[in-house]
Amino acid sequence: MFDAVMIEKSADGAQTVHIGPVEDARLPDGDVTVRVEWSTLNYKDALAITGRGPIVRQFPMVPGIDFAGVVELSARADIPPGTRVVLNGWGVGERWWGGLAGRARVKGDWLVQLPEAFTTRQAMAIGTAGYTAMLCVMALERQGLTPERGPVLVTGASGGVGSVAVMLLARLGYHVAAVTGRPEEEDYLRALGAAEILPRSGFSTPGRPLEKAYWAGAVDVAGGVVLANVCAAMLPNGAVTACGLAADMAFPATVAPFILRGVTLVGIDSVMCPRPQRIEAWRRLAELTDPTRLESMVTEIALADVPQAAAALLDGRMRGRIVVRIP
Ligand SMILES: NC(=O)c1ccc[n+]([C@@H]2O[C@H](COP(=O)([O-])OP(=O)(O)OC[C@H]3O[C@@H](n4cnc5c(N)ncnc54)[C@H](OP(=O)(O)O)[C@@H]3O)[C@@H](O)[C@H]2O)c1
Repeated sequence: MFDAVMIEKSADGAQTVHIGPVEDARLPDGDVTVRVEWSTLNYKDALAITGRGPIVRQFPMVPGIDFAGVVELSARADIPPGTRVVLNGWGVGERWWGGLAGRARVKGDWLVQLPEAFTTRQAMAIGTAGYTAMLCVMALERQGLTPERGPVLVTGASGGVGSVAVMLLARLGYHVAAVTGRPEEEDYLRALGAAEILPRSGFSTPGRPLEKAYWAGAVDVAGGVVLANVCAAMLPNGAVTACGLAADMAFPATVAPFILRGVTLVGIDSVMCPRPQRIEAWRRLAELTDPTRLESMVTEIALADVPQAAAALLDGRMRGRIVVRIP
């Protein structure tokens, strides 16, 4: 038996969330069983648990798009029991039972061996949000971005992806401007390495097709008008990564930044990202993460606190990363 968060749907379509013991025999098929030590709450988990977004594809479902733990049983010679592993995405917590549980059974191909530098708790302090931030930075680098090209912008800066992106870009020597709707988080963002704090209100109303050009690179978690305004203010040949929709799924923009300034918009999908890129992302995270800055992002909760924290996250009342202690 292990404890788990379980989402169920009744015949009338109502969604309920329970936390309690589950029999091991109910675990899905898979070649590796992991004793989960830590999981987290990402934006997508919060949508799944509150039912505010169509994330869960089959019920009953154990949510949790990521986890870190130790292999208990394995049919894979290359992933023996005792291996410390991390999992991000692959539909886990959506189509396949996920990480908000004491045990998870998955395909070995989905697991990445945890770098020595991290404890399993630190791996989940980074979580899918932080791994996605690293994928964004790697994508900007592939577009030729360097600190000499100019300042970079991070939207949703006090959220999970945003906080880690600020920390990573500052560590790489960039001048980082952090966009936030929470001016009270200025000290927090400066401690992560932000050089400038910009109010979200400056980005959330429709602007002109081209604005004054400021930014060499940008990490956007918001989408919508925010992303359109970010694209409009890029320097010639600048690059923007789009990874989120915290503001809106729509993209009400013009082609002006792309055809008149050579701006590149790069999409980031952490869920189906190929394995070699994941391994490289976790290697870079191990190299670039400052443990003190990482810890400043963390709110630690128990499994029982998950439903309440999920609602708070979507209401913009949680800062940084939520780490879930698994009993
Ligand atoms: N593509 C992928 O593979 C991938 C992976 C991970 C996450 N994501 C997506 O990335 C987004 C962020 O995820 P997260 O885990 O960082 O969530 P999060 O912790 O909730 O952070 C989102 C942040 O966005 C800002 N925000 C909220 N509402 C906004 C609005 N209306 N306009 C502009 N900014 C707003 C807030 O930051 P401030 O208060 O500082 O403004 C909030 O903290 C989500 O949409 C998530 O689904 C995508």
